[in-house]
Amino acid sequence: MNMERDLHMASGEGEASYVNNSRLQLKALLEAEVVLEKAVREVYMDLHNPTMTVVDLGCSSGQNTLIFVSKVIKVVSRESSSRSGFHPVELQVFLNDLPGNDFNHVFRSLERFKKQTAAEHEENTTLLPFYIAGLPGSYYTRLFPPQSCHLFHSSYCLHWRSQVPAGLGGANEYINEGNVYIAKTTPAGVVELYRRQFQEDMLLFFKLRHEELVLGGQMVLTFHGRKYEDLYNNGYLDHPTGLLSRALQSLVEQVCHIIIFTTVIA
Ligand SMILES: C[S@@+](CC[C@H](N)C(=O)[O-])C[C@H]1O[C@@H](n2cnc3c(N)ncnc32)[C@H](O)[C@@H]1O
Repeated sequence: MNMERDLHMASGEGEASYVNNSRLQLKALLEAEVVLEKAVREVYMDLHNPTMTVVDLGCSSGQNTLIFVSKVIKVVSRESSSRSGFHPVELQVFLNDLPGNDFNHVFRSLERFKKQTAAEHEENTTLLPFYIAGLPGSYYTRLFPPQSCHLFHSSYCLHWRSQVPAGLGGANEYINEGNVYIAKTTPAGVVELYRRQFQEDMLLFFKLRHEELVLGGQMVLTFHGRKYEDLYNNGYLDHPTGLLSRALQSLVEQVCHIIIFTTVIA
């Protein structure tokens, strides 16, 4: 699998779409709200530029990314209106995800978002002008010129690896005993492959963002972590990932049966 080319959340607005199945991600976004607001405020107060550049890495196609944008607009509008002597700023927002993401859905929502933002805009504050653009590409590559971004945000994304770890799954290679996650039956070699892939990915991510951030810029990153040192104890993720791997296995078995059946008939 080529992650950059093949990975994407379910597009559109149907029952199984990302748009209609991202409430857990919304919860994570809201829980990190205070941290985000503090970072936006500090970045604004430290700004030496008429444009504040803000990026949502792994924006996907749902409402959550626009909720993030709306928070940034509110905080900066409030700050710039309440402090005399601070110069006016304009906001440039980049919404980033992999090329297969349903950017069209986000783009189609923008007109409504602009009207809603204007309607909800607080009295006694000046609504800051904002410009929103889509940016397809992997955050494991360079996305911006050097020192050009003031704030990176990423919610519920960085647990995605850049690739399936080399050495996993092919003939004569490690296999994960039917799991789609690190579970009780996962061989130690598989755990080690994922650990190394995670380290490589995160080092690369930080190196790239460090090059793109202005001095004094900030990042707010929210992603799955572990409560326990024991890698085989995934806490609340054990149950859903176990169910998911069983469902996938049953689908694979059905497909295999159909292939064998048609081969016998033929
Ligand atoms: C669970 S969604 C979270 C989306 C959104 N931030 C939210 O809170 O609803 C994770 C997103 O990360 C994106 N993603 C995964 N790996 C990525 C990468 N290397 N570069 C950019 N986006 C990536 C996926 O395509 C997906 O849209």
